[in-house]
Amino acid sequence: MYNCKECGYASITKLGKCPNCGAFASMQKDETKIKPKKSAQKTTLTSGVALESKLAQSSQFFDIKNTELKRVYQNGIKQGGVYLLGGQPGIGKSTIILQIIQDLIENNKISIGYFSGEESQDQIYSRLKRIKKDSKFQNLDIYTASSIEDIVQTISEKDYDFFVIDSIQTIYSNNIDGIAGSPSQVKFCSEKIGEFAKQRGKTCFIIGHVTKGGEIAGPKYLEHIVDMVSYLEGDRFGQYRFLRSMKNRFGSTDDISIFEMGLFGLTPVYDIKERIINTANTSIPGSVFTMGIDNGRPVIVNLEVLLNKTNYKYPQRMAVGIDNNRLNLVIAILERYLKLNLGYFDIYVNLPGEFKFYDSGLDLALATAIFSQYQNKLVDKNSIFVGEIGLGGQLLPSKLHEKRKNETPEGFKFVDKKLLNHVVELKKIF
Ligand code: TYD
Ligand code: MG
Repeated sequence: MYNCKECGYASITKLGKCPNCGAFASMQKDETKIKPKKSAQKTTLTSGVALESKLAQSSQFFDIKNTELKRVYQNGIKQGGVYLLGGQPGIGKSTIILQIIQDLIENNKISIGYFSGEESQDQIYSRLKRIKKDSKFQNLDIYTASSIEDIVQTISEKDYDFFVIDSIQTIYSNNIDGIAGSPSQVKFCSEKIGEFAKQRGKTCFIIGHVTKGGEIAGPKYLEHIVDMVSYLEGDRFGQYRFLRSMKNRFGSTDDISIFEMGLFGLTPVYDIKERIINTANTSIPGSVFTMGIDNGRPVIVNLEVLLNKTNYKYPQRMAVGIDNNRLNLVIAILERYLKLNLGYFDIYVNLPGEFKFYDSGLDLALATAIFSQYQNKLVDKNSIFVGEIGLGGQLLPSKLHEKRKNETPEGFKFVDKKLLNHVVELKKIF
């Protein structure tokens, strides 16, 4: 059996290119031979009273105060919870986990073990100092380690309440063949960590790198064995970082946290609304405001469209931040019902600030922006356009429509199907 070291795809033949993630020369022979356990594990039944106290204990959370983090981690970090934090290399995973640790230490009586297979203790301490100069970080021990057996033994001896593995791809077990980061190692080590944490009631964060395609580099089921999966995303050279949860056994997943990478780590961005409004260039045709839904959180964004006379046989359609298919759909609708000759133009769409929305609720804003550029007329800068457009040109409500509406900033008009029934009515607003 061969496994892709990027995404874990399994194949019986060695392929030059992984059909799943597209990585080249990534197939490795998986010769997993798990050494048999000495004896079958004994299961003991917990008595009623003990179970009750266990349940009471397990409903407790370690407090965190950072309100932006709380959008994702809600009540705090669940005691005994196993968390997975994924993201591309360099995005800020090690930074954000140290900030979570700092928050936990300041607000709880808690002992923490941080196991890094990637960086030296000095590097980690210097990052800690950078994040918080005056913090003492009592009860935090930092280790450079890569053997899972050593790590488990240390946690066991030191009896940490909370531990971090940074990252799962750098940890290996001597009982398994294959290099650290190979699917069999990632599988074995993460199961071992998960099992250990559950048996002892310890809380842990497993950090995992993701591939270019956005998958955790390792078997996909890593997501299944943990209680919560969150991803730190964004452009590593860009301004914003977005923390999104994909699975949460302790709460909902319908919110995101927005941070900014600065000199002292990741700072919460509380005023995203004001920033978007104040930086948008609304004095050019083709610039509109809309309210996108990102993992359940409404976020106001500025959508820009540029139309250029085409020099190509086939006009260019290029969208950054929105789905290209939705762009083509909206173009077709405008050509049909508003009789716009868009075939003469290249059309470019952008959401300044590296935002990305796969959201049909942006259709109306897109149609308005294209029409605005086409006529060279400005769009009202105090309106927010929200709604999906059906193929018949009729306006439809977007998902979580009311939630978006409730986020309308003061002084702004929310334009949706209540004001516009059909795209032909766009003529009324110019
Ligand atoms: P890091 O947390 O090491 O990313 P990951 O663990 O996901 O690989 O940090 C990524 C980048 O962030 C790194 O290139 C340096 C930068 N950075 C800052 O700009 N400011 C800071 O205060 C810190 C700690 C890091
Ligand atoms: Mg790191």
